[in-house]
Amino acid sequence: MNDSDTKNLSGRGSESGARILDRLTDFAARFDRQFEPFLTPTGDVPQELVDAMRHCALAPGKRLRPYLVTRCCELAGGDRNKALPAAAAIECVHAFSLIHDDLPAMDDDDLRRGRPTCHKVFGEAVAILAGDALVTLAFELLTRHTPDRALAADLVLELASGAGWAGMIGGQTADVTGESRPASVELAKYIHERKTASLFRSACRLGALAGCADSKTLSCVSDFGQALGRAFQIADDLLDLTSTPDVLGKNVCKDAESNKQTYPRCVGCEESRAAANQASEAAIAALERLGVEANDLRELAEYVVSRHY
Ligand code: IPE
Ligand code: IPE
Ligand code: MG
Ligand code: MG
Ligand code: MG
Repeated sequence: MNDSDTKNLSGRGSESGARILDRLTDFAARFDRQFEPFLTPTGDVPQELVDAMRHCALAPGKRLRPYLVTRCCELAGGDRNKALPAAAAIECVHAFSLIHDDLPAMDDDDLRRGRPTCHKVFGEAVAILAGDALVTLAFELLTRHTPDRALAADLVLELASGAGWAGMIGGQTADVTGESRPASVELAKYIHERKTASLFRSACRLGALAGCADSKTLSCVSDFGQALGRAFQIADDLLDLTSTPDVLGKNVCKDAESNKQTYPRCVGCEESRAAANQASEAAIAALERLGVEANDLRELAEYVVSRHY
């Protein structure tokens, strides 16, 4: 890494970095208060399943996807309360993806969000079922709490396609099968676009749809989410090499062990940082049409590549 790269990553916009971190922290606290009741069953549900779902979903995460849903709803002119079902739903899908990602058959991790992984506490079978229950709960929440049936259908379609076979799950499949393939930056990009960027894009689109965005705003935030997700995942690959479990809340140096198709493996750290910065800049450029009210999203795009966890 050369000096200018170091400055770009850790020194860029430190005042705005502090500002977006404060905003994210405040948002996470408020969101968690609203999210918890959604994870409290009203009917008769096996206690172990509830405990396993809550163990992961309510553990301290950054809540970036719900933040994107909420802010894109507001940017589209909608009230933030209209974003809540979709914000909760996408966090459920994200928690499902994390539980399954950590399973022995996938990344085989024992630390997540600073806690033992779901399967370590509840066993593999219950962890698999907790993931299944979180992803189905996501669609239950979306439909139950969206009285406008046409909007509910649009939100369900968006989340299902962002998370599904052509989105996050497709990307996770390419990630796992890619372990036995030669290093290829094209493959790493293919994986990142799907396993991570697809859900970031859907987060932005869900918010925009809930806020009744016009087609131009929908298109801006879609491109923003996709580029932000790319930047975020390259930074995640770098953090696996440079961070510590204490800071990150998950184990480190796992990707090389599993022969993952990461950017650092394919192009080295320096080029990876440049690619992350480039994706961050593309995310900011996608917001060009939006005014100063999108400034926090611009700061977020800088934050995801300079973050320490
Ligand atoms: C982790 O996502 C999974 C990836 C896409 C790399 P986050 O880093 O957003 O996880 P939490 O929600 O903050 O725990
Ligand atoms: C996972 O990517 C992305 C998901 C869809 C969960 P990683 O496997 O790199 O995520 P971490 O590093 O375990 O959080
Ligand atoms: Mg993985
Ligand atoms: Mg993993
Ligand atoms: Mg990772």
